[in-house]
Amino acid sequence: MSTTPGPSARAVPGLPAGFRFGAATAAYQIEGAHDEDGRGPSIWDTFSHTPGRTLGGANGDTACDHYHRHPEDIALLRELGVDDYRFSIAWSRLLPDGTGPVNQKGLDFYDRLIDQLLAAGVAPAVTLYHWDLPQALEDRGGWRTRETAEAFARYAALAAERYGDRVERWITLNEPYCSAFVGHAEGRHAPGTEEGRGALAAAHHLLVAHGLAVRELRAAGAREIGITLNLDRIHAASTRPEDLAALRRAEVLHNEVWTEPLLAGRYPAYEEETWAGLAAGPWRRPGDLELIGAPLDFLGVNFYRPITVAAAPHRAEDPEARTAVDIGVIELDPYGTRHTTMGWPVVPEALTELLRALHARHPGLPPVWITENGSAEADTLGADGRIHDDERIAYLADHLAAVAAAVAAGVDVRGYFAWSLLDNFEWARGYDQRFGLVHIDYDTLTRTPKDSFHWYRGMITAHRART
Ligand code: NOJ
Repeated sequence: MSTTPGPSARAVPGLPAGFRFGAATAAYQIEGAHDEDGRGPSIWDTFSHTPGRTLGGANGDTACDHYHRHPEDIALLRELGVDDYRFSIAWSRLLPDGTGPVNQKGLDFYDRLIDQLLAAGVAPAVTLYHWDLPQALEDRGGWRTRETAEAFARYAALAAERYGDRVERWITLNEPYCSAFVGHAEGRHAPGTEEGRGALAAAHHLLVAHGLAVRELRAAGAREIGITLNLDRIHAASTRPEDLAALRRAEVLHNEVWTEPLLAGRYPAYEEETWAGLAAGPWRRPGDLELIGAPLDFLGVNFYRPITVAAAPHRAEDPEARTAVDIGVIELDPYGTRHTTMGWPVVPEALTELLRALHARHPGLPPVWITENGSAEADTLGADGRIHDDERIAYLADHLAAVAAAVAAGVDVRGYFAWSLLDNFEWARGYDQRFGLVHIDYDTLTRTPKDSFHWYRGMITAHRART
């Protein structure tokens, strides 16, 4: 393995002693082995195998083949010198039908993974749900039904019982916004539908699933328990009243649907007629708010870029025909900055703004972990056998500096995970988007650490030496 020193790997000023650094992945994006050792199909197998759903028909059948190559990936983590590794468990490896019989080989895989991580001196941070719902549960209504939340609780209990002695940090759900709204309203992610009520029911049941899982994890003696949200820093396109009203609607859809019940024990104010009929849905039950709002040990925040919104006509005139994301808002991109290959503007100060606003709004905010941050770049393997991804280094360094600015302003941020350890399956965008610190050659599955890998390692070492 290469030990090339990283370019200008200095500590990030302002990050406190004890601040922790990690790298993150998710099961469907890296594991492959989709039909091995008893794994059941998930909604992402179905979706990605449906023509026209992913770029070039890409799917996670092989992905990075992490299922077979995990020892090599753990060796990379050891070399990287991270404190923590965030990965997700594929629900359908443990419970092929989502509920019912347990698959021993699936349980054993994550046992090995966790033990090898600990042997490498890396603390496991487990995400229980990173979008790969067992297809059998989708066939019975999926997140639109409360039964799926109850099945999730049983799965969480199983994982906690089996791994709780060794897992330091548990993340119940990753970005439930995407599961509910990108999956059931925009239709860009599995299960790929465009719904109104169904997407709102899904949002609620995801929150209930989180609450039930927290209860199970606590009962099993789990250590640190949290959830990961993709909170958005949203700007209004102008100070016109209609754009400010659009900003409010977007704040509810993107952020407050999640933060209000989780952190403030209340539902967001759905003052807009768009959602009025939908939001007070029959899926809510007495006691749900207490369940969802149970105290967290930390809040995970994924951040990539800010968005700007303006008022726009609804896509459907009839309110009943509107999807849950048809809220009379259009996204604009006024950012005159560099954009990553995802087309996302690079605006690090938006991360500071986001964290400060969160802190100001929620006085009892638990410690925050940045559970994902990173950039997709047009990486090429050079003739020298290296990947000179200077843009990614700048992105990571600038966002870490943005975290340090938030810490200086009083926000309690404890750690940061780079997304991602490896180039991987970027969902509907397939394999074209490369987020890794480690390059994957998808023909040979060869792993090559990029310059950013060496930089990150040097920065971590420098941080430890300085603090
Ligand atoms: C957030 C998701 O959690 C992750 O799976 C995805 O790859 C990154 N964003 C980049 O889009």
